[in-house]
Amino acid sequence: MLSLKISGLTKVYLNGTTALDQVSFSAQPGEGIVLLGANGSGKSTLLRCILGLETATSGDICIGNWQISQLNSQQLRQMRSQLGMVFQKFHLVGSLSAFHNVLHGALGRSTSPRYWFPATAPEIERKRAMECLDRVNLTHFAQQRADTLSGGQQQRVAIARTLMQNPKLILVDEPVASLDPQAGKEVMDLLWSIVREQRLTVICTLHQLALAREYGDRIIGLRDGKIQMDTTVNYLQDRDLTMLYEPEFGVRCSELGIREIST
Ligand SMILES: Nc1ncnc2c1ncn2[C@@H]1O[C@H](COP(=O)(O)OP(=O)(O)OP(=O)(O)O)[C@@H](O)[C@H]1O
Ligand SMILES: [Mg+2]
Repeated sequence: MLSLKISGLTKVYLNGTTALDQVSFSAQPGEGIVLLGANGSGKSTLLRCILGLETATSGDICIGNWQISQLNSQQLRQMRSQLGMVFQKFHLVGSLSAFHNVLHGALGRSTSPRYWFPATAPEIERKRAMECLDRVNLTHFAQQRADTLSGGQQQRVAIARTLMQNPKLILVDEPVASLDPQAGKEVMDLLWSIVREQRLTVICTLHQLALAREYGDRIIGLRDGKIQMDTTVNYLQDRDLTMLYEPEFGVRCSELGIREIST
């Protein structure tokens, strides 16, 4: 399990856009955080900074004992191998089988060319890839080309590939945005059951407030790159959510289903 501590994180892109402005929070090992915010509020930038794919303009991120701003490229690779990432777009290699895509999750552990192909990968890794596919209930689709699977199945393959990495912290960016409600619910159920059974720390961006309430332990809301709200789901207020979305976009709470999801 890995802890995460973000202190005064600011990200100004080269074009002058301030995507993150003094963001600070800590995530405890095993905590499930849902990140909410309107389009452009900085959610993906935050995840990319945690992954070390964007360099912070100021502030810092500590993951376990790693202080990201101090890492050289080799240490950064080592740190990233502990992090799993699930995206809205599944980023599978469409022409390869589900099994082959999952096997590639082991590449974070070894860059040996042996790991690139099922025929040459070590037996233990091939066995593990099948176990990961089994965990997402896709054993029967192991040899099917990824681009012939449904969206929900492709996202499950992507989750299996992440599992193959054996991550300690998972970053998830709009995992169900491309899926219909039923497939989206199945993917969230699966993802969260894995997170819970392995006691992983997860940070997940969502636009579906009902899902945020259902799955998040804690909700962090960003607005214009600043933390506007940081609360456990039990204390989540409709007006906090309104503040996140309404001023810029004029989106009414009722349209977002906030009443509907109130407890
Ligand atoms: N590479 C970049 N160069 C310049 N500006 C960028 C870059 N990436 C993101 N931005 C800007 O930073 C801000 C935050 O973008 P980001 O993608 O983090 O938002 P988001 O909350 O993930 O939005 P969405 O909900 O639409 O995915 C936006 O104003 C965006 O235009
Ligand atoms: Mg985004």
